[in-house]
Amino acid sequence: MRFKRMAIERESPEEYGYGAIDYNLSESSVPDRYLRGIDIDLGKILMCYGHHWGQPALREQIAEQYDGLPFDQILVTGGAAEALFVVAATLLKPGDHVVVEHPNYPSNYEVPRSLGCTVDVLPLHFEAQFELDVDRLKHLVTPQTKLISLTHPHNPTGTMISEDTLEAVIAIAESSDTFLIFDETYRELTFHAKLPTAASLSPKAISISTLSKAYGCPGIRIGWIAMRNTSLLESFLAVKEQINICNSVVDEKIALSVLERKDQLISDGNAHVQANFEVLSDWMKTQTDLEYIRPKGGAVCFPRIREDMEVDVRKFYRLLWDRYKTFVGPGHWFEQDDRYFRIGYGWPTRQELATGLENIAMALDEAKSGHSSRAARRDF
Ligand SMILES: Cc1ncc(COP(=O)(O)O)c(C=O)c1O
Repeated sequence: MRFKRMAIERESPEEYGYGAIDYNLSESSVPDRYLRGIDIDLGKILMCYGHHWGQPALREQIAEQYDGLPFDQILVTGGAAEALFVVAATLLKPGDHVVVEHPNYPSNYEVPRSLGCTVDVLPLHFEAQFELDVDRLKHLVTPQTKLISLTHPHNPTGTMISEDTLEAVIAIAESSDTFLIFDETYRELTFHAKLPTAASLSPKAISISTLSKAYGCPGIRIGWIAMRNTSLLESFLAVKEQINICNSVVDEKIALSVLERKDQLISDGNAHVQANFEVLSDWMKTQTDLEYIRPKGGAVCFPRIREDMEVDVRKFYRLLWDRYKTFVGPGHWFEQDDRYFRIGYGWPTRQELATGLENIAMALDEAKSGHSSRAARRDF
């Protein structure tokens, strides 16, 4: 069996260098936080191996988000990325069938594909408001399906299923005796009520989350898996131990301190995201060449260049980057056409966002067929 090689994230902003980007509209989180304000004495931390499951106090804090789950149904991981890997590596073997909502955060399909699974995508269509098609999901699930993989609020579209839809998906997983991995990375960032955690609704549901996005702490690499099936959680731990044994004890201490201030941090983060969304939404109203589905949560949206607009898409991205030092997530990051791009509106300052959006409009205008800017002709 030949396993598929996974892609390297060569185009991520951190690989380009944050200093090289003036207007970073490619992130999917609230602004990154500084360590200041975190009340820990680094000198008092013993640099021993940590608890393999994660520090109990941290697991207690995390468990508070999961109705009916005690702390021992939480496994702390190195971010949600490790959690996704651990679940796939534990549950899947070559030839297994997996259904993944698509587009999505790539690990959700890259890992099963690399393991030699048969991955069916459950497509979200712009024309259908990026809504999840539950009937199609029912159709795709077979007795061979080992895992259904969904992310809500969704990346990259910012759309969100209803609680009823989540329950319908869980019913499909239960009746077909398969697991649902529900990536709740953006759960705390919503314009309306949050979804319940999937793990609290069913023993067949695996909830994944992280401090990277809603809490603005991607640099400490703390995420987790929550699940009521403790025997399966032990199998997840066995895989995690093969990767890193335990998390960094420093990261876990910081994570605990962050979670102790959860309510304040989440409310600040949501306030920033929603204020910035007003800037984005006002700007979108003025754009005749772009269309989008209004997001319901998270900190991103996925507009597209209108189909009837003739534009040199490669030139658009080149101008946006070379001339305007503005960075968005092009469609191909998510296996979509590059006429789509992800705008992360929750990370930049209001001013950076406003200027970045104007830069998008200018780059688009200059990349249109027949555009007569001399500068554009000379340089590109
Ligand atoms: C849906 C989703 N899941 C998981 C991750 C990985 O997050 P982490 O930084 O916690 O590994 C991301 C990061 O963008 C994401 O968007």
